[in-house]
Amino acid sequence: MSVHIAAKKGDIAETVLLPGDPMRAKYVAENLLENAVRYSEVRGMYGYTGFYKGNRVSIQGTGMGMPSASIYINELIMFYDVKKLIRVGSCGALQPELKLRDIIIAMAASSSSNIHRRLFTDMYYAPIASWNLLKKAVDAAEAANISVTVGNILSGDEFYNDSPELWKLWADYGVLGVEMEAAALYTLAAKHKVEALAILTVSDSLVSKQEDASEDRERAYMDMMKIALELA
Ligand code: HPA
Repeated sequence: MSVHIAAKKGDIAETVLLPGDPMRAKYVAENLLENAVRYSEVRGMYGYTGFYKGNRVSIQGTGMGMPSASIYINELIMFYDVKKLIRVGSCGALQPELKLRDIIIAMAASSSSNIHRRLFTDMYYAPIASWNLLKKAVDAAEAANISVTVGNILSGDEFYNDSPELWKLWADYGVLGVEMEAAALYTLAAKHKVEALAILTVSDSLVSKQEDASEDRERAYMDMMKIALELA
């Protein structure tokens, strides 16, 4: 029984976009989808199903961090038979060439979380994107003339932490950006044999310390949403 999503079986499409922020789900449903219907508002974590270019697609808020996102991801897969899960979120840039509003597609998601340590004990699992979705997303971005950077990202458990310089270790190993959900998404998708991808827009830079002003963010994220919606 689904506890955190109040929808009927069949209310949710096979492809679901996953923003952390439920208001972003609302914004995309109202501005990019046709005939969007809200199927759940439990905890204010809105979910909508509508159509994009004739294809049925849903968009479900997940909240922030792997524990919250994992609840929605598990329920979508186990109770609503979702087959393609695409995170659409923000990240902090770890490389100097990445600017605010640049788009990163996560080929892999490294993690500093205990979720993976508990699961794999002293071994190291490499959470990776679905090749099919990754290829389609890169092709869709190219076709729309949207430039993207593809590579490894970091999913951590803390936005504010006591080791403010730790990101530099990850940066040294080529990690592009830091967020808080993708590694759990990739790992759960692998376990349940479904497809997953994370597309991220740079909202701040740990290198330059710049931050995107939030009023305009919604509109800036539309390129990322359009790439994700092409995967429906
Ligand atoms: N850290 C973690 N998660 C984030 C960040 C960040 O700097 N920016 C957007 N999501």
